[in-house]
Amino acid sequence: MSPFQLTRTLPEDATDAALRADVLHGLSRTPKTLPPKWFYDARGSELFEEITALPEYYPTRAEREILLARADEIAAATGARTLIELGSGSSEKTRHLLDALPGMEAYVPVDVSGSALSAAADALLAERPALSVHALIADFTRELTLPRTPGPRLVVFLGGTIGNLLPTERAAFLRAVRERLEPGDALLLGTDLVKDESVLVPAYDDRSGVTAAFNKNVLSVIDRELGADFDPAAFDHVAVWDSENEWIEMRLRANRALTVKIPELDLVVHFDAGEEMRTEVSAKFRQDGVRSELSAAGLELRHWWTDTEGRFALSLSAPPARR
Ligand code: SAH
Ligand code: AVI
Repeated sequence: MSPFQLTRTLPEDATDAALRADVLHGLSRTPKTLPPKWFYDARGSELFEEITALPEYYPTRAEREILLARADEIAAATGARTLIELGSGSSEKTRHLLDALPGMEAYVPVDVSGSALSAAADALLAERPALSVHALIADFTRELTLPRTPGPRLVVFLGGTIGNLLPTERAAFLRAVRERLEPGDALLLGTDLVKDESVLVPAYDDRSGVTAAFNKNVLSVIDRELGADFDPAAFDHVAVWDSENEWIEMRLRANRALTVKIPELDLVVHFDAGEEMRTEVSAKFRQDGVRSELSAAGLELRHWWTDTEGRFALSLSAPPARR
């Protein structure tokens, strides 16, 4: 028996239905789009871990630097006994928080990737057998049923994953997080910061082609799950900086005209040569923007910490104190 509890709050058929709806909607519109959450099957989660070690991909290293420097302050400011982590992936950086919070009793990692959750929970429990781990396979943009665990609770959302949501999705997400916070609870949020395009673009278009493989992995997911015949070789990886929206956009560009059949959706999709499909936005932030997005959701920014090079920020926010 597994030493941790692994709960699937989304039934398998709901995941299927969500993928079908997203693919049908995204490939029937112009320009075509796919939501980034479908990158993360077991292979996609492995590829993301490879990305975090790339020389060009600074966000993971920068965020780890902040966590290492500020974990004690975070511990003192929150006194958390439960850590709820959204989009936890490998939970690698989470260790720094657990190290600083010896009173932490429960850890609730939430992720769509069951393989990443199981591997992370196994690794954490090998080091901390007394920790109560309730892993949830769930979509954090949907209704979340959290287990009953002791307060205060610290909700953490690391890696800059909030930037993978569109502005309206971000607003709804932050409001939903706020609604779940009780007095004394807090949100620790990782946000990548606006910087020069010459640093940003290589972070999303690395020399060794790992990010390209990660981007194309979404096609393999659709081929496997929906019986489609996407040929990943017919698409090129594209990463562009959109200076108006202040986000990196990842796209897949058809390198020839092609027709893709998706039998499970009874759909045939045509791509013109050169046609681009958006697969991810990765928004970059400024302190004022983060403060006002938090405030619009009913959260007050209490701390703002950056790495020494000012590339990435961690913010700690909480519902305003009642007077
Ligand atoms: N927090 C980790 C991993 C970031 S990668 C880090 O900082 O390194 C983004 C993670 O979010 C992946 O593990 C992916 O499976 C998960 N994810 C993406 N969209 C999600 C969604 N809508 N609901 C739940 N998990 C999601
Ligand atoms: C998970 N997320 C914060 C990553 C990012 O930087 O937007 C996903 C990623 N996409 C390409 N490389 C990494």
